[in-house]
Amino acid sequence: MSQDYRTLYRQSLEAPDEFWLEAAQAVTWTQPPTTAVDSTAAPLHRWFPDGELNTAYNALDRHIEAGRGDATALIYDSAMLGVARKYSYTELRDEVARFAGVLRSQGVAKGDRVVIYLPMVPEAVIAMLATARLGAVHSVVFGGFAAKELASRIQDARPTVVVTASGGLEPRGPIEYLPSVHQALDISDHRVATVIVKSREGFLHHASDYGSTSDGSTSDKQGSGAEGAGTEGSGAVWLDWDTALATADPADPVPVLATDPLYILYTSGTTGSPKGVVRDNGGHAVALAWSITNIFGVGPGDVMLTASDVGWVVGHSFIVYAPLLVGATTVLYEGKPVGTPDAGAFWRLIDDHRINVMFTAPTALRAVRKVDPEAKLLKNYDTSSLRLLFCAGERLDVDTYHWTGAALGVPVIDNWWQTETGWPICANPRGIEELPIKAGSPTVPQPGYDLRILDGEGHEVPTGTEGNIALKLPLPPGTLPTLWGSDERFISSYLSAFDGYYVTGDSGYLDDDGYVFVMGRTDDIINVAGHRLSTGAIEQVLAQHPAVAECAVIGLSDPLKGQRASGYVVLKAGADIDPATLEQELIALVRNQIGPVADFKQAVVVDGLPKTRSGKILRKTMRQIAAREDYVVPSTIEDHSVLDAMKPILRGTADR
Ligand code: COA
Ligand code: AMP
Repeated sequence: MSQDYRTLYRQSLEAPDEFWLEAAQAVTWTQPPTTAVDSTAAPLHRWFPDGELNTAYNALDRHIEAGRGDATALIYDSAMLGVARKYSYTELRDEVARFAGVLRSQGVAKGDRVVIYLPMVPEAVIAMLATARLGAVHSVVFGGFAAKELASRIQDARPTVVVTASGGLEPRGPIEYLPSVHQALDISDHRVATVIVKSREGFLHHASDYGSTSDGSTSDKQGSGAEGAGTEGSGAVWLDWDTALATADPADPVPVLATDPLYILYTSGTTGSPKGVVRDNGGHAVALAWSITNIFGVGPGDVMLTASDVGWVVGHSFIVYAPLLVGATTVLYEGKPVGTPDAGAFWRLIDDHRINVMFTAPTALRAVRKVDPEAKLLKNYDTSSLRLLFCAGERLDVDTYHWTGAALGVPVIDNWWQTETGWPICANPRGIEELPIKAGSPTVPQPGYDLRILDGEGHEVPTGTEGNIALKLPLPPGTLPTLWGSDERFISSYLSAFDGYYVTGDSGYLDDDGYVFVMGRTDDIINVAGHRLSTGAIEQVLAQHPAVAECAVIGLSDPLKGQRASGYVVLKAGADIDPATLEQELIALVRNQIGPVADFKQAVVVDGLPKTRSGKILRKTMRQIAAREDYVVPSTIEDHSVLDAMKPILRGTADR
């Protein structure tokens, strides 16, 4: 392959089979693919249909077989515990193989699902890779989600096993996971066979609270009586991780078809029910091996810190799979950018582990800047090992871009993508060439992504004009082939708006140099501290309050978190509740039902919501008024006076 971006990009679109079959050689196959993309079921496309491999083997065993077993695969650094622990490739493979043996002994086989609800501990990586080793399918649920969200994912994924821990360590104290897991199992009507619990010190609840016996297992059929446990019980056996691991036989990697699912990752859609994004095995391994090499410039011997969470796609791809697929070292950081203990946390990590490439969300950098605006803490550390800092998860604002680059003295690389794509759609491919950086742009489309800007009718717009960012089908390998259990929902959510295209849900424009500028969502998804949330899901929770007749939730701009959710509620006739009390009750409701991650802190009472004559709430107009943007009131508005009355309220909440 010639090594300049434009040639590679053109080749990827003009000769995709050749391009991706060559890229596929970076992966070890039990049956190498002879075909790249299978489009016979278009608009559904499958990559490497005749290939067979095991992803965990590619992430671990093959490096050991190549003589790199002593190289460090994983560094667990917990600012919460003040410990760091290294795993060589051999150590990590052995733990993964034994935990795969535990899963197998609990009935997990190829194609079965395993839900993983774990904080940022090595067991999260081990559980993911162990599931992959068996050819089973993991679904990781972020620890900041409450029981109900966990339940909806269990309900949809229908796992054989749930893997969890006593809890997570947050700055405000330990977060007990087991009551949430138990409650989620009660809510869901799916029966999980086994819950495996990694015990951590300092937590009130343990697997043994659920009636553990001498063999380390118990059934909670009768209910455990543990605080927070449901009365019905779920019928699951509860196992202690360490006890189970001590006697487990290691399991060998199970080859699967490239098109078989590796994982399901639920993400917010515009409705309350999350979408199960499916990732296949073959396309994923090829795309991640390609992107970590050619975009991130990371290879064997490099140390990469991705300061995200394994519960998000950035964590799946760039904490777990990509660094291991190429034999690099990945740092798993349990802590925050600030307050654990201070705003020098990232710089300490770079120094301690000689990190070469770092990846985080802009919100984390804004948090650091807020506490240490002159980056004085940097002086305490040697960060000379760092070559590049990548940012994604939300728009990298120009101020944060300049501040970070000036403080660290390394290029700051924005990259734009989504859970659905699994790897960057747009980036500056630093492993290929150093394209000039334009502040505010994630640079250019990456190979396989045929990016177009379309107007509402699906016609391409001229350069410089904002429109819907769409990707011409087929999408490249590693992107979602479908949604879990529903090709129809996949097609109707993403492929129906414009024939032959995937719609990203983001709007933006191209400049004369082909650089992409991503401006924001076209739907009701918001991004709070790099966490993707659905305003529709929050509305569903607010509507449950007995005093609420109707409500609207919109995203307001937030200087630290990018956006925050703000609720506007209309009271039922005769409801007698003080607005401040109602606000507190609504905040608690969202926290209990969606989770602390929603960070919902603002709900105001209004007399009415602006609507069209057909009853559609004018959320976009509300957003524009709050943001003091120009707006056009739809001609179909039902009652202008309702909108007029809301203007000062919207601006007041935006300024709060
Ligand atoms: N388990 C349980 N609770 C969690 C959690 C987890 N895994 N993650 C977050 N929470 C809780 C927090 O403790 C907080 O609770 P509180 O309301 O009681 O304080 C709440 O959820 C909101 O958390 P967060 O959005 O993280 O806000 P914060 O004020 O604690 O921290 C930042 C702000 C910017 C430092 C933090 O959001 C951050 O590091 N963001 C980066 C996000 C990221 O990596 N995104 C992935 C895309 S790349
Ligand atoms: P998620 O699926 O949680 O990764 O969220 C994906 C969404 O986050 C995208 O559709 C964008 O709206 C936003 N996003 C992610 N990265 C960027 C970026 N670099 N610039 C602008 N928006 C981004």
